[in-house]
Amino acid sequence: MKAVVITAPGGADVLELREVARPSPSYGQVLVRVHATALNRADLMQREGKYPPPPDAPKDIPGMEFAGEVAELGPGVQRWKVGQRVFGIVGGGSYAEYLVSHERLLAAIPDSLSYTEAAAVPEAFITAHDSLVTQASLRASETVLIHAVASGVGLAAVQLVRALGAIPFGTAREKGKVVRAKELGLEDGWAATADMSEMVSLAKGWTGGRGINVVLDLVGGAYFPASIELMAPLGRLMEIGTLAGRDAQIPLGRVIASRITIRGTMLRGRALEEKIAATRAFEEQVVPMLARGIVRAVVDREYPLAEVRAAHVLLESNETVGKIVLRVA
Ligand SMILES: NC(=O)c1ccc[n+]([C@@H]2O[C@H](COP(=O)([O-])OP(=O)(O)OC[C@H]3O[C@@H](n4cnc5c(N)ncnc54)[C@H](OP(=O)(O)O)[C@@H]3O)[C@@H](O)[C@H]2O)c1
Repeated sequence: MKAVVITAPGGADVLELREVARPSPSYGQVLVRVHATALNRADLMQREGKYPPPPDAPKDIPGMEFAGEVAELGPGVQRWKVGQRVFGIVGGGSYAEYLVSHERLLAAIPDSLSYTEAAAVPEAFITAHDSLVTQASLRASETVLIHAVASGVGLAAVQLVRALGAIPFGTAREKGKVVRAKELGLEDGWAATADMSEMVSLAKGWTGGRGINVVLDLVGGAYFPASIELMAPLGRLMEIGTLAGRDAQIPLGRVIASRITIRGTMLRGRALEEKIAATRAFEEQVVPMLARGIVRAVVDREYPLAEVRAAHVLLESNETVGKIVLRVA
């Protein structure tokens, strides 16, 4: 089969489309013919040699999500039939014509979604749903602040927050991105500057002085202590990404006085059982919303698999709104 291979740690030019051995499904696994996959920041780090994939994933083929069709069933598979349209997350290896997945890590793609749209869903929506609902126990009418709000995860979160009856606010470094996020339900946003006190004042204004109930922090760095300053009592801060820096000060007095919960999260490093639980929650609570058009995939741009280098360069530019998809078949 054809697959994109990381030939050495480095920039986008180390990615090459090569002929590699097709995987075969073992017990409980399904062989998926991949029609489309999508990019994630983790792919860039893996390409640079800074983020090794988990042991059960191909070492040199990046890609953590996919949409495709069931091509072959391994022994013991019960949930699927050959030809069904499925999507999901995988530890690695989705920049390829075929991959294997545990049968319970797959969900059925609603008929209304194309493969391109479906490939833009799993990582963004499972991360956002798991963080907001499963971990932060978001309730209707609560307020949520989402950093990097026009990112793949950010725009999934905006839509889910709205769909759950809560109120999404967000930050992005470009005003145009805040405007785009408003089209998908964002209540209000901050076009970020280096002055984090602006964000704290705005958030207090948005919430009538009460503070934000849940923060989805996709960027870290200076956003982290400022987020703690603007949170409501019993607020929950979900630490998801570190694009603005891996180290931050913690205003401990505020954490104690406001009884704030800080929780880190990561999908890729989880045990199979935990990934299955997140996938089942997604299947039960998010896929029906996708099917009815209550939430939708946001695709910035699609490239053929052979143009993977250009796709990586675009992601690195920070200019995207939503997801970049690679069309495989
Ligand atoms: N923990 C997990 O399980 C998990 C899962 C998925 C993703 N993530 C992480 O979540 C983050 C978002 O992922 P994604 O795929 O949704 O992202 P994305 O679509 O690639 O968008 C990321 C956005 O972050 C903003 N950004 C980049 N550098 C920044 C900086 N120095 N300061 C502030 N903002 C910056 C940029 O928007 P602006 O230019 O508008 O600011 C950029 O477009 C990444 O860090 C990713 O690794 C974590």
